[in-house]
Amino acid sequence: MSKEDSNARYRELQAQRENTSEPLGWFEDLYRLHRDGEEVVPWLREAPNPELVAWVESQAAPPGGEACVIGCGLGNDAAYLASRGWRTVAFDIAPTALSLARERHPQAEVEWVAADLTQLPATLTGRFDFVFEANTLQALPAGLRAAAFPCAFQLLKTGGALLLVARARDASEPAEGPPWPLTREELVPPAGYLAESVSEIQVSTQPPDRRWRILYRRPA
Ligand SMILES: C[S@@+](CC[C@H](N)C(=O)[O-])C[C@H]1O[C@@H](n2cnc3c(N)ncnc32)[C@H](O)[C@@H]1O
Repeated sequence: MSKEDSNARYRELQAQRENTSEPLGWFEDLYRLHRDGEEVVPWLREAPNPELVAWVESQAAPPGGEACVIGCGLGNDAAYLASRGWRTVAFDIAPTALSLARERHPQAEVEWVAADLTQLPATLTGRFDFVFEANTLQALPAGLRAAAFPCAFQLLKTGGALLLVARARDASEPAEGPPWPLTREELVPPAGYLAESVSEIQVSTQPPDRRWRILYRRPA
């Protein structure tokens, strides 16, 4: 299936669920189709996210450091963190994503958890030295996204860092999604947290694409 066809297909799946009691059910729908052989996952990659790799390579994993991947999908980023010495938890709202992630990374020492970012279990909150979020928030419609963004910070322990990567747009640009590129205003951290570094990067996809790379911190 071409990239255009897979984008059209997943937008169709999203639209079918939009005004239902489960507006995020389309992720599970999509992963089931993928499991059954349809090439519909547009974010399917063989390698971990390059922004994550760059960050990890600039750090020493703290002994016993705990990391969490939000909306882990097929698990590349979580498996990579685990391979670099982080005790890693990865969660996703779609159970089929987690079974596929386990199958793809059978050796990875990752705790795969079914959880919704907007309803985090107490076992995950206030726990992590490092949290990675890529491309989940931009896949949520505006109302759900606004509710989900502050929840990402609840995962951090004191002193912990959250690295966020997302498509970028100016507030004056229209957003037709999914994915819905995010404005800088949407990414202002909740009270009590810092945006330690904010970069806008140009990704040489076709067509080229702008992304935010923001490192947040829960102050010690
Ligand atoms: C666009 S995909 C990105 C996957 C992966 N982070 C990546 O960059 O390849 C978004 C992922 O977030 C998951 N997701 C969506 N809403 C979620 C929520 N509220 N809580 C947890 N996971 C969610 C989806 O099932 C999907 O796997």
